[in-house]
Amino acid sequence: MAYEHILVETRGSVGLIILNRPKAMNALCADLAREIAEAVDAYEADDAIGALVVTGSEKAFCAGADIKEMQSKSYMDVYKEDFITVNWERLSQCRKPVIAAVAGYALGGGCEFAMMCDFILAAENAKFGQPEILIGTIPGAGGTQRLPRFIGKAKAMEMALTGRMMDAEEAERAGLVSRIVPADELVDEAVATAEKIANLSQPIVMLAKESVNRAYETTLAEGIRFERRVFHSTFSTEDQKEGMSAFAEKRTAEFKHR
Ligand code: CAA
Repeated sequence: MAYEHILVETRGSVGLIILNRPKAMNALCADLAREIAEAVDAYEADDAIGALVVTGSEKAFCAGADIKEMQSKSYMDVYKEDFITVNWERLSQCRKPVIAAVAGYALGGGCEFAMMCDFILAAENAKFGQPEILIGTIPGAGGTQRLPRFIGKAKAMEMALTGRMMDAEEAERAGLVSRIVPADELVDEAVATAEKIANLSQPIVMLAKESVNRAYETTLAEGIRFERRVFHSTFSTEDQKEGMSAFAEKRTAEFKHR
């Protein structure tokens, strides 16, 4: 499919989505959000793809919602179209694993977009922030909810109330990013990590993702119960038999994704 604001590349079993709207620092206009949703749909439907990577440019992962596009919208406009819901949330609903590879600015909707992914690899020059307060609004794509879950109330509140940015080192210390990678290795490292995941059993990977995500949506007791049932269900798969047999026989497992 031809896209205007993104590039897509299939590398092995990994679907790579590159935000490519350089004139606006990859700000999320409606068409960009729609194209990302379409690319996620396509990769999700493709059995040959086991994991996704979303990235931007070296300068900007994404500078947030397109301020020029939304500045004149009325309350009725945003309410009626359910602004920042359709297409925007598609990434958070992806059942396959998604890694955000963030270099440069990840601000506002860009930071929220990265947090919708399963984990974030950051280049040394990455900068995260929720600067909506500086333009007279608040985060609208999950920033006030996901950020405190990642980094705790104190830092999240300071960022939301002041618009202060966090650099990659602080973001790693605070738990927002899983690892910092040299900028020129960022995408290759993210794709290599995604490829490792894609070579495991796809259904088991999806169950693991669902189970970790449940931790953010329920009580500990309910979450543990959910995990136990999902763990039990893995024993109904061919891949669990293959994985454990391969270990006992000292060979590499060949998963069939069944
Ligand atoms: N929307 C629209 N255009 C944007 C944009 C955005 N979010 N961010 C950057 N741009 C555009 C600039 O207007 C500029 O365009 P022109 O060349 O036509 O003037 C171009 O990208 C380059 O930007 P700068 O000249 O500002 O570049 P810089 O290096 O000096 O600064 C920056 C970079 C710090 C990212 C700065 O552009 C900036 O602060 N951007 C806005 C960030 C922001 O407020 N994001 C939150 C948006 S609201 C939101 O996301 C709501 C939500 O929760 C979903």
